[in-house]
Amino acid sequence: MGSKITGIGMFVPERVLTNQDLEKILDTSDEWITTRTGIKERHIADEWVKASDLALNASKEALDMAGIHPKDIDLVLVATSTPDMIFPSTACFLSDKLGCKNPMAFDFSAACSGFIYGLTIADSFIKSGKANNVLLVGSEVFSKIIDWSDRSTAVLFGDGAGAVVLSKSNDDSDILSTVMKSDGSHWQLLHCQVGEKLRMQGRETFKLAIKSMEQVCNKALAKAGITKEDIKLIIPHQANVRIIDALAEKLEVDRDKVYVNIQKYGNTSAASIPIAMYEAYKEGKINRGDYILLTAFGAGLTWGAIVLKF
Ligand code: ACO
Repeated sequence: MGSKITGIGMFVPERVLTNQDLEKILDTSDEWITTRTGIKERHIADEWVKASDLALNASKEALDMAGIHPKDIDLVLVATSTPDMIFPSTACFLSDKLGCKNPMAFDFSAACSGFIYGLTIADSFIKSGKANNVLLVGSEVFSKIIDWSDRSTAVLFGDGAGAVVLSKSNDDSDILSTVMKSDGSHWQLLHCQVGEKLRMQGRETFKLAIKSMEQVCNKALAKAGITKEDIKLIIPHQANVRIIDALAEKLEVDRDKVYVNIQKYGNTSAASIPIAMYEAYKEGKINRGDYILLTAFGAGLTWGAIVLKF
């Protein structure tokens, strides 16, 4: 028994904040942001919009593609660092908005690694026979925890949601290997205390991100018993295009084998990988049956990699 990805969806708020818009409120420039991060614009939610609202739209699209009714979802998982409330969980709000029928529902926090942690959890629930259809969503409204006067972080993040449906299948699992890691001793590098704003030591985080993702990518490939040549596309967390370029170099893969859409969305944390997967699929860069490698790094520290058959 294994799990199959049967549907995928994404949603970003309509409002776009460009680098030129940021130039008006911060001591920054389009040139600095573009060359140091690769970001040109990001989407920002209106004040009253919550993570569950973005998650709802992404989930509807994923459920439609999967052809699964919300009543048939028995586990709702939301990866978020920006939940609607401390409790109830965003997953409970989402399942109510969707009209699910009393599913197990909970949030979890692994920052930017949330979606790949979530794929691991979802796959384990299905393989152990504890769930048949799982809705997994990465949904973030980082605009609410950003210090808009801090140019070193305000330019980096955006809001959005990405969702997948995983369903039980009699074939082998689509998730071929997972390698998940954490190290709480570096929590100060990137954190947000309750009721406060996000703080990051960018330069140190940058170096650790490249090294950590390289290691787990190689481990995940070895565990899956395939090589990087078998991989159609690498989809990394979108935090900084320079991190992505350095990772491609370390892994010795062609840069065009690594997906990038950070220019449009910035860092959407737990939503970044499902949004990128969705766009890569819609652009025809991945097809059903292709091997893809996902990797992420974020606060915690948390990091990991997954090899999957899309
Ligand atoms: N505009 C103009 N200048 C700026 C800006 C800005 N927006 N931000 C910083 N600067 C300045 C700094 O003040 C500094 O000036 P100084 O040399 O006079 O002191 C200079 O630019 C260089 O600053 P650095 O912080 O060293 O710049 P760096 O090249 O490291 O880029 C960045 C910063 C983009 C944050 C990078 O370090 C990075 O991407 N880090 C990793 C982010 C990441 O992966 N996070 C993990 C995931 S997120 C999560 O889990 C929630």
